[in-house]
Amino acid sequence: MVSKDMEKDIEKVLISEEELFEIVKRLGVQISEDYKDKDLLLVSILKGSVIFMADLMREIKIPCNIDFMAVSSYGSGAKTSGVVKIIKDLDKSIEGKDLLIVEDILDSGRTLSYIKEILLARKPNSIRICTLFDKPERREVDIFADYIGSKVPNEFIVGYGLDYDEYYRNLPYIGALKRSVYED
Ligand code: IMP
Ligand code: MG
Repeated sequence: MVSKDMEKDIEKVLISEEELFEIVKRLGVQISEDYKDKDLLLVSILKGSVIFMADLMREIKIPCNIDFMAVSSYGSGAKTSGVVKIIKDLDKSIEGKDLLIVEDILDSGRTLSYIKEILLARKPNSIRICTLFDKPERREVDIFADYIGSKVPNEFIVGYGLDYDEYYRNLPYIGALKRSVYED
C-alpha cells in the first residue's frame, strides 16, 4: 500500500532535484547543438516522461515541435512483453521530420524497440532516442539510446514522472522504493 506520507515509502534519494536539473540542462545543450540544422520533433512517451519532457524542452534553445504517444504493454506483472498497443497515437505525420523519442527509462528495451519500429515505418528523416535513465544490465533486446541522462542501478526507482502502480510520479526527486511497498 502507498502511505499517505509518500516519503515514508522511499528507501533513499538516488538523484536530487538539483542533480536532475543539471542532467536535463546538459542534455538540452547537446540536443540544441546536434539539431540546429534539423526539423526537430520531440515525441514524449506517456506518462512516465511528462516531467522530463516539460523540463527538457525548455532547455532546448532551437525551434522544435512536440507530440505525445501512449502505449501499453500486453501481459501483466513487472516484466514487459514487448508487444505494445498504441493507446494514443501521434497527431500528425512524421514524414521528413527529425524525431527524438523522449523516454523515462530504458529497461529491457522491449517497449522502445517496438515503438521505434512502428515509427521508422512512417518514414521520418531520422530517429533517435533520448532516455533520462538507463538500466543497461537489464537489456534483453539490442537497442541503445543516443542520449542518456544517467545510468541507474538495477533497483526500482520512482519520482519525477516514474511510477509504481501509477503512484509517486509527483515526487520531485528520484528515489528507490522500499521493498515493503511492493511486497505487501
Ligand atoms: P522496457 O520495455 O522493459 O524497457 O520498459 C520500460 C518501461 O518500464 C519504462 O518506460 C517504465 O515505464 C517502466 N520501468 C522500468 N523500470 C522502471 C523503474 O525502475 N521505475 C519505474 N518504471 C520503470
Ligand atoms: Mg511506467
